[in-house]
Amino acid sequence: MAYKDLHDSPFDESTIAKLEIFQDYAQAWIPTFVMQPHISEIHIFDFFAGTGYDKNGVAGSPIRILTKIQEQKGYLFQKNVNIVVHLNEFEPIKKKQQKFEQLKKSCSEFMEADSSLSSRVKIEYYNEDFETLFPKLISTIKDYPSLVYLDQNGIKFLSEKYFMELEKTSQTDFLYFVSSSYFWRFGKSDEFKIHLDIDMDEAKKNGYKKIHRTITRELRNKLPVYTKLKLYPFSLRKGVNIHGIIFGASHPRAVDKFLSIGWKRNGDNGDANFDIDDEAGNAQLDLFVGQKLSKIESFKQEVCDRIREGVIKNNFEMLNFVYEQGHIGKHAADCLKDMKSKGEINFIGSSSPSVTYDNVFKNKKKVEYQIIKK
Ligand SMILES: C[S@@+](CC[C@H](N)C(=O)[O-])C[C@H]1O[C@@H](n2cnc3c(N)ncnc32)[C@H](O)[C@@H]1O
Repeated sequence: MAYKDLHDSPFDESTIAKLEIFQDYAQAWIPTFVMQPHISEIHIFDFFAGTGYDKNGVAGSPIRILTKIQEQKGYLFQKNVNIVVHLNEFEPIKKKQQKFEQLKKSCSEFMEADSSLSSRVKIEYYNEDFETLFPKLISTIKDYPSLVYLDQNGIKFLSEKYFMELEKTSQTDFLYFVSSSYFWRFGKSDEFKIHLDIDMDEAKKNGYKKIHRTITRELRNKLPVYTKLKLYPFSLRKGVNIHGIIFGASHPRAVDKFLSIGWKRNGDNGDANFDIDDEAGNAQLDLFVGQKLSKIESFKQEVCDRIREGVIKNNFEMLNFVYEQGHIGKHAADCLKDMKSKGEINFIGSSSPSVTYDNVFKNKKKVEYQIIKK
């Protein structure tokens, strides 16, 4: 399948949204390891790095990664942590690898402009097909805290042979780019099925707009039963196409950070750069079904129901439910506070519902939700 070269024209709005999510995640990821004791080296991999900048000088993923590292340079020195950045760019078929040369130029100029950066940051450049490079680097990915970007064209490298290798890692977070609407069109073809076999009849039931969410859900179904890996989508509309990021990580802290980034970008649905759930018309009353609930409202209703039914009894269970549903703690906390103010529940051991990562996973502070019988 032929793909349009991303670097032939300036980055469009949806590419920039993707790159901003990449950079926001790097910003959140770097300090979680730098500030931990006993960690002296962390690794970031950008397997499809491009040229560094677009035609108008707008930064691409490698420069954005380096910028986020540079912003936290002080901590690297303070904590004696080194970062190795692995950058790969390869143009299949082409004899002259101009994009790779451009990548090296952009990044070395960036490094030269900040003389102290190179004593903490090392760049490894590669000019190889992902297919041959990934098996060579997977042991490094597994051995160190790693952040992996897979900003491919299309869908090919979402193939199970790579994806399942990442599933086996324990301290790796990854962000995959997928041209999900290609599945809608070609998902049943053999060319697609050799990479990823998805039940397209099932996938199409949710509609075209939600194809990226559906692909992510189908991938979850392929994971081993006892996997710790959690996957979350962020859909990106580009003209008529629906692309997206699939975020994967096994640590709840990583999940918390990615979900916060998504909800900050889109406060209505948290997982798309457009109105994926057709919520714009929700305010109008439907004569037959009444008011349609928004994604946040229906989640809050579910939170209330689960508390009243005694299915969720404390903040530990609540935060797990929040992450499972792709929400943030605040959405649950708002509704718990509301229930408390109406005299429906009490918080035992705290004045707040405490549905945060820090309370649950870091400080292990358990708060029981007691139902007040009337
Ligand atoms: C979507 S672009 C990545 C853009 C980049 N992240 C940026 O911000 O500029 C995908 C890149 O992967 C390169 N590429 C294509 N096939 C590849 C392969 N088999 N192995 C490695 N890189 C490949 C392309 O030349 C292209 O620059």
